[in-house]
Amino acid sequence: MDLYEYQARDVFEKHGVPVLRGAVATTPAEARAAAEQLGGGTVVVKAQVKTGGRGKAGGVKLAHNPEEAEAHAEAILGMDIKGHTVHRVMLAEGAAIAEEYYFSVLLDRAERRYLAMASVEGGMEIEQLAVERPEALARVSVDPLVGIDSAKAAEIVSTAGFAPEVADEVAAVIEKLWTVYQQEDATLVEVNPLVRTEDGAIIALDAKVTLDDNAAFRHEDHAALEDRAAADPLEAKAKQLDLNYVKLDGQVGIIGNGAGLVMSTLDVVAYAGEQYGTKPANFLDIGGGANAQVMANGLDVILGDDQVRSVFVNVFGGITACDEVASGIVKALEILGDAATKPLVVRLDGNNVEEGRAILADANHPLVTVVPTMDEAAAKAAELAAAN
Ligand SMILES: Nc1ncnc2c1ncn2[C@@H]1O[C@H](COP(=O)(O)OP(=O)(O)OP(=O)(O)O)[C@@H](O)[C@H]1O
Ligand SMILES: [Mg+2]
Repeated sequence: MDLYEYQARDVFEKHGVPVLRGAVATTPAEARAAAEQLGGGTVVVKAQVKTGGRGKAGGVKLAHNPEEAEAHAEAILGMDIKGHTVHRVMLAEGAAIAEEYYFSVLLDRAERRYLAMASVEGGMEIEQLAVERPEALARVSVDPLVGIDSAKAAEIVSTAGFAPEVADEVAAVIEKLWTVYQQEDATLVEVNPLVRTEDGAIIALDAKVTLDDNAAFRHEDHAALEDRAAADPLEAKAKQLDLNYVKLDGQVGIIGNGAGLVMSTLDVVAYAGEQYGTKPANFLDIGGGANAQVMANGLDVILGDDQVRSVFVNVFGGITACDEVASGIVKALEILGDAATKPLVVRLDGNNVEEGRAILADANHPLVTVVPTMDEAAAKAAELAAAN
């Protein structure tokens, strides 16, 4: 889960990383009040969207007084930044910046370690710097069993070439940022810019944090950081039902058992849909031991997608045999009753396939078409989606 900057700022503060005072606003009037609360002086107004390049898009603006903060908030709220609508702004005290640095630590999956990156040339051009002068961005590998201790922090700071006057303080901030990374179970902590102010303080002016959802069970407080309003309502419903569902932008709903099978189903459905202009509507893996209720839940979510015109149920019977899955489909259609309104193309194969097909044939449900192979089923589902 990616955090908004204002949430990441709070997490930084909790772990003692030096940050500026901040406040959040959803209306221009709130922004003005927040600017007054921050002392009535210079503030920055920053778009809160989960994407980079906000500054360049005009989503970060300096205001000299509360009236200006209100006007900037007016301009920034509702703005579209790379497909993300701005619903909130953060206001932070204005800093007198002397220098802008860069620091990040992230998971290095290939090396099975962590990777720390630092530069004395941070700021909005960091991506360009990384491409044009990679030597200006220090990359220091971090042993996961040791983490960033004071020796490692000193190594990062010296590799990046920080001036001796700031080296110790930057190293201390990096150690605190490591505490955030480690104690919050993050997979990314990025600060761009980390600044030195004119009076010599080192402060994190921006904060990007990704938390590891696999560790959510250890962090009761992380659930509150989730952005339910921004999540797709179907994805939210699927999550509640404990389903592995991802909404896509197409017309053919897909249910399969096993992530690999579902991925290849997406491919064949996309391929079959080329001639009809139809595409897969979702990813949904109902897993190995899927019973009738799980099948019903899956169908319920998919049929709730107004874009869906047909559904392709693609099952390879293994431990859960085809006859059980077929009974599951029949029962699911009973559970759903009138809510089931769109044609279903079913392809069953594997363990007890004949018994499974017989069950579907006996049920003879008007919405169900049984097709023997995956390619034919994908073609049928695409055709039905186009015709509906
Ligand atoms: N509190 C502040 N006071 C003064 N200047 C600021 C402050 N916060 C940010 N800035 C300036 O605005 C620039 C952009 O801010 P920030 O890094 O938060 O956004 P961004 O880098 O454009 O966004 P992203 O990190 O999403 O790409 C900073 O590099 C800095 O020069
Ligand atoms: Mg930034």
